[in-house]
Amino acid sequence: MNGGETMIEVAAGSPIGRATTRRDARDKVTGAARYAAEFRPEGLLHAVLVTSTVPAGTIARLDTAAAEAMPGVRLVLTHVNAARLYPPPLYPFGAAFQSFLPLQDERIRFAGQPVAVVVAGTLEEAVEAAGQVGADYEAAPFVAGLGDARATSYGAGDCGEIAEAVPSHVRGDAEAALAEAAVRVDATYTSPRLYHCAMELHSTTAAWQADGTLTVWEPTQWIAGAQSVFAAWFGLEAERVRVVSPYVGGGFGSKGGPQPHAALAVMAAREVGRPVKLVLSRPQHFGAISPRPATANRVRLGAGRDGRLSALAYDSVNEVSFDDLYVEPSGGIAALSYDVPNVAVDYRFVPVNAVTPSSMRAPGEAIGSFALESAMDELALALEMDPIELRLRNYAERDPVSGKPWSGKHLREAYERGAREFGWQRRDPRPGSMREGEELIGWGMAGGSFPAYVHPSAARVWVRADGGVEVLSGGSDLGTGTYTLLAQVAADLFGVPPESVTVRLGDSAYPDAPVSGGSMLAASLTPVVHEAALAARDELLALAADVLGLETGELRVGGGRVYPEGRPQEGMGVAEILAAAGRTGVDVVRDSFTGVSEQERAKFHGTLGLLRMPAAGPYAVYSWSAVFAEVAVDADLGTVRLRRLLGVYDCGRVLNPVTARSQLMGAMVMASGAALLEAGVVDARLGRLANPNLAEYMLPVNADIPGIEVVFVGEPDPHANALGARGIGEMGMTATIAAIANAVHHATGRRVRDLPILLDKLL
Ligand code: MOS
Repeated sequence: MNGGETMIEVAAGSPIGRATTRRDARDKVTGAARYAAEFRPEGLLHAVLVTSTVPAGTIARLDTAAAEAMPGVRLVLTHVNAARLYPPPLYPFGAAFQSFLPLQDERIRFAGQPVAVVVAGTLEEAVEAAGQVGADYEAAPFVAGLGDARATSYGAGDCGEIAEAVPSHVRGDAEAALAEAAVRVDATYTSPRLYHCAMELHSTTAAWQADGTLTVWEPTQWIAGAQSVFAAWFGLEAERVRVVSPYVGGGFGSKGGPQPHAALAVMAAREVGRPVKLVLSRPQHFGAISPRPATANRVRLGAGRDGRLSALAYDSVNEVSFDDLYVEPSGGIAALSYDVPNVAVDYRFVPVNAVTPSSMRAPGEAIGSFALESAMDELALALEMDPIELRLRNYAERDPVSGKPWSGKHLREAYERGAREFGWQRRDPRPGSMREGEELIGWGMAGGSFPAYVHPSAARVWVRADGGVEVLSGGSDLGTGTYTLLAQVAADLFGVPPESVTVRLGDSAYPDAPVSGGSMLAASLTPVVHEAALAARDELLALAADVLGLETGELRVGGGRVYPEGRPQEGMGVAEILAAAGRTGVDVVRDSFTGVSEQERAKFHGTLGLLRMPAAGPYAVYSWSAVFAEVAVDADLGTVRLRRLLGVYDCGRVLNPVTARSQLMGAMVMASGAALLEAGVVDARLGRLANPNLAEYMLPVNADIPGIEVVFVGEPDPHANALGARGIGEMGMTATIAAIANAVHHATGRRVRDLPILLDKLL
């Protein structure tokens, strides 16, 4: 496995760590990049979903006759005529988010649940016919959301054998310490359902071959996971399913595994004997795709007058469905952020009539850091202490959960650097004191962290007969820069510009890679690509030594040639060496499944069963952040404008400052949306979302985003991976919401504990 204590040396001037523009950017803006929904297998038909308008009950009548009679319509599937599906293995033991299987019975579990799928020759015909499917429901009582009077909750003790999935944590005696604390904070922070809103819609294009194998074009963050779920639904061996997903237009967790609608495209394709494409409409995403659940987080802090924390209790509540448990692990960051002797983190779950929620960027840490770091701000005010000083007084020098030392933690430097760059010493701590005309100015800060996961991976490096270098991996690039990073690594070893390396991703025919989620892909994959490229280079050098009659130790590779060190003119082109050696190429596969048997590897394919947890080794491996925000609040209207965001990050070695910065900025933008704009608004009378579209679900746009600064303070971390890098994708989502909320309080003296911070909550 990666994360050995010997770190690969990265020479000065190496492409690894160099600011390199994302190589897929041009293809994306020119339309040359082909996304999953843009593949058009021969004979393609189009499917459109019909979804339930009620949140609970049963289907009393589905009238499909009119739709079936419409021009071009080939098939209307409902629970009456749909094929049976097998239950897929659920996350974390598989890649399925929910146990719900579409069109298997007449029961309605949530508004937006698929009740029929219409297949026609053109998209227009399918849309038109879907509108003609009539449905009557026998309505039943429902629970609309977290605040519903009918809502009940359950805890880990009621979870039976899956109780271990609930990450409760106890150390010391938090209740006793709270009772004795000189200063206390007791506040509950709430957040609404949040939706991923990736630019690329969810879609599935399915084609069955004559031999019973299946090809699926599906935008997915996890090729192996998708393969295992499709195979499970249809009772196939995983090898009989090929998943193709060369580009993903954003996922943020929602494309971690196929959602139930995907099974319907495959089912329909088998039924009609033709390839079928199903693209969800934007409103359908707000019903059928797992969101981040609504949460309520009670935080209690106890401290002495010196600011030393003695107690921390974190009670997390999140929505779940009636079918499945999903834990939004918000208390994790509370348990490990500070050196507190008495801690209790507990979780409860409220079943509601909505699609089973799931992971959205920094699941847990995003909302957990809002609650924890808002409470720390409240405590700092109660103590009349600077918020940074309060954090420094409780700085955790080792992981208080595992008791292990941190692999690397430059959070102190992040606070200091951030304070300096932001000008924190000019801040008047009194809320409402920094007025500029009609605007109330607020400065807030918060700290954050995110675990550094690593998963065993495989990669192939191929030196072609023409001398070109290719890297192949079954990982997927969801816009994070995987293509670019892998090219940089191979380029380093072959002494060529990264642009000249071909990278192929997003196909289950390529070597096994983990999910592009949990910020683990780059950290997992880059060392394996390095190892494979090194082995391929060594093999090439051995061939060249024979051809040139020299020792391998004298030879160097660079610019597409192999030559004796210091005498480049005496070398030969890579293609000529291969030809002279009678070879058509050099082809090397390497993996980091060290100590894992073939059987185990097969068993855990498409699962997170081999995930290396952040504190599994001798060190606890986490990334760290300090985020600073400035807001201006209109004193009369309560409108909040974000003016500045500064994020200072310790993510170990930065493999590519361009893609890393973009990831962090993107997540900070997303966090600003959660802070100030975004909310899935549940209509309590109807049990469905009132704003299922991008006109009314408010996302930040360019005009909402001021200058964002990203600064790195980390150092290569030998315990993170062999290149010293930790994951980046989700780090920008931690701390930012709290920094903004704390800035709003500083501006106004109003503590808004319910996201998003809308103007009506400030007046
Ligand atoms: Mo993520 S929420 O791990 O894609």
